[in-house]
Amino acid sequence: MQSVQEFGDNPVEVRETGHYTEEYIPSFVEKWDSLIDWGKRAESEGTFFIDLLRKRGVKSVLDVATGTGFHSVGLLAAGFETVSADGSADMLAMAFENGMARGGHIMRVVQADWRWLNRDVHGEYDAIVCLGNSFTHLFSERDRRKALAEFYAMLKHDGILVLDQRNYDAILDDGYTSKHRYYYCGEDVTVEPEYVDEGLCRMRYEFPDESIYHLNMFPLRKDYTRRLMAEVGFQRIDTYGDFQHTYRGEQPDFFVHVAEKEYRIEDEEDTQYSGAVGTARSYYNSSDADTFYSTVWGGEDIHIGLYERPGEPIADASRRTVERMAGKLDLTAESVVVDLGSGFGGSARHLAEAYGCRVFALNLSEVENRRHRELNAARGLSDRIEVVDGSFEDIPFADGKADVVWSQDAFLHSGNRVRVLEEAARVLKPGGRLIFTDPMAADGCDPAVLQPILDRIHLDDMGSPGFYTEALARLGFTPADPADGGFEELREHLVTHYARVLEETEHQESNGLARKVSHDYLIQMKKGLRHWVDGGQDRQLTWGIFQFVRDGNS
Ligand SMILES: C[S@@+](CC[C@H](N)C(=O)[O-])C[C@H]1O[C@@H](n2cnc3c(N)ncnc32)[C@H](O)[C@@H]1O
Repeated sequence: MQSVQEFGDNPVEVRETGHYTEEYIPSFVEKWDSLIDWGKRAESEGTFFIDLLRKRGVKSVLDVATGTGFHSVGLLAAGFETVSADGSADMLAMAFENGMARGGHIMRVVQADWRWLNRDVHGEYDAIVCLGNSFTHLFSERDRRKALAEFYAMLKHDGILVLDQRNYDAILDDGYTSKHRYYYCGEDVTVEPEYVDEGLCRMRYEFPDESIYHLNMFPLRKDYTRRLMAEVGFQRIDTYGDFQHTYRGEQPDFFVHVAEKEYRIEDEEDTQYSGAVGTARSYYNSSDADTFYSTVWGGEDIHIGLYERPGEPIADASRRTVERMAGKLDLTAESVVVDLGSGFGGSARHLAEAYGCRVFALNLSEVENRRHRELNAARGLSDRIEVVDGSFEDIPFADGKADVVWSQDAFLHSGNRVRVLEEAARVLKPGGRLIFTDPMAADGCDPAVLQPILDRIHLDDMGSPGFYTEALARLGFTPADPADGGFEELREHLVTHYARVLEETEHQESNGLARKVSHDYLIQMKKGLRHWVDGGQDRQLTWGIFQFVRDGNS
């Protein structure tokens, strides 16, 4: 049996797909398995993979990178029907022993190379898992494509591939020069890139007895892996940050890709909403946005808060905005309020609870609306609040229905704000009130500053205080309070708010949010939040409360 790794005279020239079987020599594998205590590893990964598979109703799993069996044994213990494959017979032998020793599992093991997986493994699976940075062992693009195609073929029509990889972007872009060391489970094993170029990352593993091993791997860039998955036919790919940071930096050490095979006809056919409205709907319906807003804001509100103290909880400040707006109105139990773009319904619940109003909550995102209805039911408010799926560009309510039309931070998503105001005027009773907030461009703002913000939210333009006041005047509205001309400007709260959201995002990211929301989403969100803060500070953006009265004569 081989006892020394063979890399020849020039180790950095070893760039072959099949070489990994020689790199994983038994002494290295045994050392790894005994040092990386399974309990500690299980603790660090938590129930991330199990939860993910259960949430998607997975029953049968093919583990294509079984190694010494860590994930297969976890899957069997969690009750999944599991088949365990690996290209190395030595690994499978150890995995089988581990399965017996840790829970008496009789593992179904198959020695198979990914490039011809379908030849040796049979059946169709709900999920394929390829974990422990295994895909990195493939050195040619042809092999990577073939392996992914083989995985794709072995999945059921709605199956998923879960594949993780080291964050090679960080190593390629700056990790090697900083000679970053990764520590596993305390100080026991240190891993560092010894050599790196776009075609090779040679990792050095050092154990406490000073023995040293190496692995030659292909440095997969995250977006490259995603692209290959899409090109072999996967329809949707979500990429998550680390389940556990082995060091505390900005960047996760690992990425986890979840690639879905299912072809969803509605993705293409959903033409009911187009342009900005379609974009807003897909955004707020996405699991990333749903998870992000419900976690960071606290599940009730998604709007700018009014802050009285630095570092105040976002939920408290957000609630203050609702109270301030409601305080401007003469609401009673007889009042009928239409909330346009009602999100999770925090404002609707406040109005129904505090004033007994009847609220019609119109919102585009069916995902948010589902959550909204559940929250109303839990608070016994379903009879006071009706949650309606729809767009405020085409409000599905009769003329003159509402005493108050209310909206918070939603009109920015419209591609036709004049139309939204016309619709608001139509559903208001004569003499009714329109009250709303919206993040806006300041009048006369520099288009170059605005552009990156518009790009991020996929909009062509934004409203401004001047735009809204002029458009409302044209539609026969008059300011509720002539002293402020219908607009109470509160720009400073926009700055405080987005800075608080950024702070909270970063805090929660290192406390589990990165496991639930995709890496790309978080990167884009943080970038966007910085734009809002800078734009507000530079007085290019603004925010505040508008209150207007609809003409009483028509
Ligand atoms: C920033 S959130 C505000 C949610 C809620 N008003 C609050 O304050 O918590 C923006 C909301 O606007 C909704 N929205 C965007 N475009 C819409 C449209 N055309 N019609 C109805 N709702 C829309 C989204 O679904 C999302 O819930």
